[in-house]
Amino acid sequence: MCPSPRDASPELQYALDDTVAALNRTIERLLPQTDLAEASLFEAMRHGTLAGGKRLRPFLTIQSAFLFNVDSSRARRVAAAVEFVHCYSLIHDDLPSIDNAALRRGQPTVHKQFGEATAILAGDALLTLAFEILSEPETHEDPRVRCELVRALAEAAGGGGMVGGQMLDLIGEKQDFDLGTISRLQRMKTGKLMAFACEAGAILGKANEPHRRALRNYAHDLGLAFQVTDDILDVEADPQDTGKDSGKDASAGKSTFVSTMGREEAQKRAEMLIQQSIRHLKIFEDRAHMLKELALYVLERRA
Ligand code: IPE
Ligand code: IPE
Ligand code: MG
Ligand code: MG
Ligand code: MG
Repeated sequence: MCPSPRDASPELQYALDDTVAALNRTIERLLPQTDLAEASLFEAMRHGTLAGGKRLRPFLTIQSAFLFNVDSSRARRVAAAVEFVHCYSLIHDDLPSIDNAALRRGQPTVHKQFGEATAILAGDALLTLAFEILSEPETHEDPRVRCELVRALAEAAGGGGMVGGQMLDLIGEKQDFDLGTISRLQRMKTGKLMAFACEAGAILGKANEPHRRALRNYAHDLGLAFQVTDDILDVEADPQDTGKDSGKDASAGKSTFVSTMGREEAQKRAEMLIQQSIRHLKIFEDRAHMLKELALYVLERRA
């Protein structure tokens, strides 16, 4: 059955709000203000991480950790590490040499506020901080678990994942891609980090392989659907809702599902992916109902 259009349910909204508040507290602790001579670097990192954001990737980590009864302070540390990688990717994505964006989360982008060189450095520092957090004993007492987290995040974020997807995205401005290549691009650019966010809970909880695989598959489909809806929002959303300028993909000539198959077919593709993502959760029965709610919400989001 096709999921019906909806806003976030009250229960999902409550859990999302809770994640935003918990993450902000965790980030404040991990990235305190400083009066060192290089304070502008930390101010730029704070601007890039604390000025808004839906915190969907942290939500995925916290919810997947819940499935395996992982201690919530550990889950929040890993959630913050994932969010730091996501925020670094946004800071670099917005640079003049990539998407040249002026507005992010309703605020000036980091390079607009702090200059391009500081934005590059702030992104670099957030990326490395994420791995520092994962490697610390407070994240998990078992060094094998920490090592597995580090490796899985590196795979998701690097050339075979987010960064490789960003490269394809840039090549797609000059070259028309077929649907298979666009799909691969989107899975790498967005799906892989979301899949890590989800699998991280299973790694922390030392879950078995079928459970891990189910979460990875759920998040891959969710991530692809999320990027399809991001591309639809780029065409038709109100910047007041998204906090970023619209129309940037078309003006840059990017290859997206929308540019290739049109808005209606892209929406149908997102619906199909969301149904598929929900089927992967069956193994968890009702315990994964928040992850199911989130998937349904992604289809109808306006921000
Ligand atoms: C934007 O991600 C970049 C994409 C991968 C589409 P989000 O829409 O999750 O951005 P924030 O974190 O809420 O700002
Ligand atoms: C960026 O995709 C995804 C990243 C890995 C940063 P977009 O370029 O479509 O993201 P927005 O629309 O600027 O948020
Ligand atoms: Mg981009
Ligand atoms: Mg962009
Ligand atoms: Mg976009």
